[in-house]
Amino acid sequence: MTASSLAGRRIVVSAGPTFEDLDPVRFIGNRSSGRMGFAIAAAAARRGADTVLVAGPVQLATPAGVHRVDVRSAAQLRDAVLAALPADAYIGAAAVADWTPRAAAARKLKKRDGEDTLTLELVRTPDVLAEVAAHPRRPRRVVGFAAETEDLEANARAKLHAKGVDLVAGNLVGIAGGGFESERNALLVVGHDGVHALGPDTKTVLAGQLLDLVARGW
Ligand code: C5P
Repeated sequence: MTASSLAGRRIVVSAGPTFEDLDPVRFIGNRSSGRMGFAIAAAAARRGADTVLVAGPVQLATPAGVHRVDVRSAAQLRDAVLAALPADAYIGAAAVADWTPRAAAARKLKKRDGEDTLTLELVRTPDVLAEVAAHPRRPRRVVGFAAETEDLEANARAKLHAKGVDLVAGNLVGIAGGGFESERNALLVVGHDGVHALGPDTKTVLAGQLLDLVARGW
């Protein structure tokens, strides 16, 4: 497949984990490295797209030509993504936390003698992907990711419908040589017109192939 030019298009990508603060020193995070989303943003910019990368806390260099907005929490990620609209495509590669502490403590939580357990109360975060898909300024293409440990295709398809998106890129996590913290990956991209198996390959190659699917018909 030839690389489609994305000149004149605006593409918003989210990447990385979110950190949900418990107190000034502790947070709930996850193992997303951000590499897949950064590779997608880099590929979009190389193809000439006006590219916004909303990045959770990661140690990665900003790809050339990309406008990067750093965020920490799911709530901040949501605000930054919505502020970046309108766009032609939103690709939600971030591993957004599903739960956040009801309130972050202003001071460090102390352990007390005689207390063997600590109960945290967590509340749901905004579902950024579903919100973008239902937004009045919905991008023409909305793409989600599904990190699963089993039943990849069925879970990705369920997400496609539940979230009202155009494509869901499923990747198996918890296996050696792919997924989180790896340079390589394989994606099963589920759309309304069928399923596309991409890779295994480097995240850079997969990013280009995913953009070809996103930009089909443009
Ligand atoms: O529902 P689940 O977390 O498995 O779906 C993953 C997809 O949804 C990813 O594209 C992720 O960026 C997005 N998501 C989101 N906001 C959340 C949770 C997930 O945008 N609160």
